[in-house]
Amino acid sequence: MNSQLIRDAIKALKSGPIVVSTGAGVSAESGIPTFRGSADSLWQGYKPEDLATPEAFEKNPQLVWDWYYWRRRLISQAQPNPGHLSLTELSLHRTDEFTLLTQNVDGLHQRAGYPNPIEMHGSIWNTKCRVCGCVSKDEALSSTTVPMCVACNSLTGPGVVWFGEEVHDGFFRVLSSITARHTIMIVGTSGNVFPANQIATVAKARGATTICVNVDPVMGPAIDIPLVGKSGDILPLIVENWGVVV
Ligand code: OAD
Repeated sequence: MNSQLIRDAIKALKSGPIVVSTGAGVSAESGIPTFRGSADSLWQGYKPEDLATPEAFEKNPQLVWDWYYWRRRLISQAQPNPGHLSLTELSLHRTDEFTLLTQNVDGLHQRAGYPNPIEMHGSIWNTKCRVCGCVSKDEALSSTTVPMCVACNSLTGPGVVWFGEEVHDGFFRVLSSITARHTIMIVGTSGNVFPANQIATVAKARGATTICVNVDPVMGPAIDIPLVGKSGDILPLIVENWGVVV
């Protein structure tokens, strides 16, 4: 990794409010498959329209739940990695001006000690009823029956945002608050999914500085400081060199 780019990133991160936006890549080194980008990515083996839409749930709720239970079991066996832990540490340097958005539903940022990420796509550790909207904590790892909503007794789905559903409105509050003083660091996302993929271009248009941490050079001209490599390697470098760069 080019050490000048790391220094540039730290300078930018020290210069004003920070928004970090993470995707599946930040959890890859914990052993959780990403959706795209490699041969064992989830959307290579499964079709989103069969598993991650309201229509899929209506058609075959048990099949959908079986897939989410399988993912819950994988996640429950995983541990936060140095990428998650470094973001928590970074937040402690800048507690008053640090916001973490994540598309991930795995809860690994919380398990790494960061208490309140904005979970744009919800949490796999909840259920969400598409009939009455009730959200409940649920940590079952398997079941041969589809869970029922505790409020209205309908069949309830996992507490995640599916294709065609609205993301957490906190995302739009953060997006509208971005100014030229901000630094936006985007970690481990392919930038394929709306609206999370708007943040770099919106931030750039407002004059903010944009950093991208990814094993592939994604998002092209919307990024000022591309840090190409694993988030579990690059984010610890930022934390280790934080005090050295003025
Ligand atoms: P993707 O799977 O689309 O992209 C993961 C990105 O992480 C890719 O660009 C990889 O190159 C990169 N990557 C892989 N390993 C990495 C590592 N160790 N360090 C850094 N980068 C790494 O994941 P997302 O962009 O998060 O939504 O996907 C967004 C949404 O698409 C998900 O939330 C999910 C999915 O369909 C729904 O299900 C609605």
